[in-house]
Amino acid sequence: MDMAVVENKQVIFRDYIDKERVPRETDMEIRIGEIKLKAPKGSGLFLVIEGFGVAKVVDSDNPNVKPGDMISGFTGWEEYSLIKRPEQLTKIEPDDEIPLSYHVGLLGMPGFTAYAGFYEVCNPKKGDYVLVSAAAGAVGQLVGQLAKLHGCYVVGSAGS
Ligand SMILES: NC(=O)c1ccc[n+]([C@@H]2O[C@H](COP(=O)([O-])OP(=O)(O)OC[C@H]3O[C@@H](n4cnc5c(N)ncnc54)[C@H](OP(=O)(O)O)[C@@H]3O)[C@@H](O)[C@H]2O)c1
Repeated sequence: MDMAVVENKQVIFRDYIDKERVPRETDMEIRIGEIKLKAPKGSGLFLVIEGFGVAKVVDSDNPNVKPGDMISGFTGWEEYSLIKRPEQLTKIEPDDEIPLSYHVGLLGMPGFTAYAGFYEVCNPKKGDYVLVSAAAGAVGQLVGQLAKLHGCYVVGSAGS
């Protein structure tokens, strides 16, 4: 195997296109592909599941990003991704006290959603009663904590 070509374990949709329902685990499969660690040399043109992730840059053709940088944003569910939409990425300043996983939770989209929804939309006052629906979820569990920190009385509801 060429030194610049490595195995790439990927989670792909096996049978999901055009289904009008939430994806299930049985719609997905793990496939071992190959990828060239060189940018930008095209992509494996099949459907790889995309989601928010944290990644280390291996190679870059973008002047704003260099090898070794840590980024968060849309990546594939795979070991190596060719990033085609760099404008959706945020550069992470590594900090030993902040686990990288926080950048897909508290410091990522769920955290921004909770923060904006609670502070910007709800505009709460200390002592307010706050009802959090979907309170066990990624966003709801943060809203509950923000509301407690803000001095509110918090009630949460969850599905199960
Ligand atoms: N995550 C994000 O970054 C993000 C960004 C923008 C908008 N949103 C929106 O924010 C909402 C929550 O997202 P999430 O990521 O926090 O979802 P999530 O992690 O999947 O959590 C969903 C929560 O909803 C609860 N739930 C389901 N059915 C319910 C019901 N009938 N009554 C009360 N609770 C119920 C579930 O409880 P059980 O686990 O007990 O079933 C679970 O705690 C969604 O509408 C999503 O589209 C999320």
